[in-house]
Amino acid sequence: MSLLADNNNSDASSALKLGTDDLHRQVEASIDWKANLEGLGSYRQFLGKVNYFLAPTDRIIENHFGESADWFKTRRTSAWAKSDLDDLAAAHTGMEPFRHPDPQTADQLYLWVKKPADAAGILYVLEGSTMGSQFLCKLASANFDSTVDAPVKFLNAYGKDTARRWQVTKHWLDGFLRSEDEIATAVHAARRMFQIYGDQLSCRK
Ligand code: HEM
Repeated sequence: MSLLADNNNSDASSALKLGTDDLHRQVEASIDWKANLEGLGSYRQFLGKVNYFLAPTDRIIENHFGESADWFKTRRTSAWAKSDLDDLAAAHTGMEPFRHPDPQTADQLYLWVKKPADAAGILYVLEGSTMGSQFLCKLASANFDSTVDAPVKFLNAYGKDTARRWQVTKHWLDGFLRSEDEIATAVHAARRMFQIYGDQLSCRK
């Protein structure tokens, strides 16, 4: 039987989509993707920033849901961006190591995370962003000579499996977030995660 067949309740994933749609559009438009992905230097900056601000989210999700389901073990994490960063440095000797300009630790960005529903809202944004990554991966791949020149493990996300995995994530969220209170908390957390994403990757940093 299909994993999705027994669940007709899509309250949580629908509420998350509706409750963050404005920010999805705003964040997507606020980041200069072309500038981030067109030169090796700016791509290195992009991967470094992603690795910086997503690393704490991986710990948060691991702490709350580490043992919840098998697919968590193969999630795209900040380590995928770090691996691209390392491969990039290996392919281009002499490239300077990335140093994030922000002196505060990225953990400070997530001090508001208290409940499992907060972590679920973060998970929604991170996993949903794999859908947009497919588009960005094509953009990056068109700009660089090859994946040796510029590795795209992070942007490629789950490749051809990305859309299916997104359905699995939504199914999991729908099963996990049951009460109105939990759903409202997750929407609030997802909005904060979108804002962090936009703040960290917009031109100001
Ligand atoms: C140029 C950049 C981006 C493009 C072109 C893009 C495009 C898309 C597309 C086509 C979908 C699938 C919509 C659907 O199935 O109805 C999607 C979903 C999603 N994206 Fe993006 N996206 C981008 C950037 C981002 C970023 C930066 C984030 C996170 C900060 C993000 C978060 C999400 C989320 C959470 C969903 C799931 C929406 C739902 O509930 O179905 N996206 N995006």
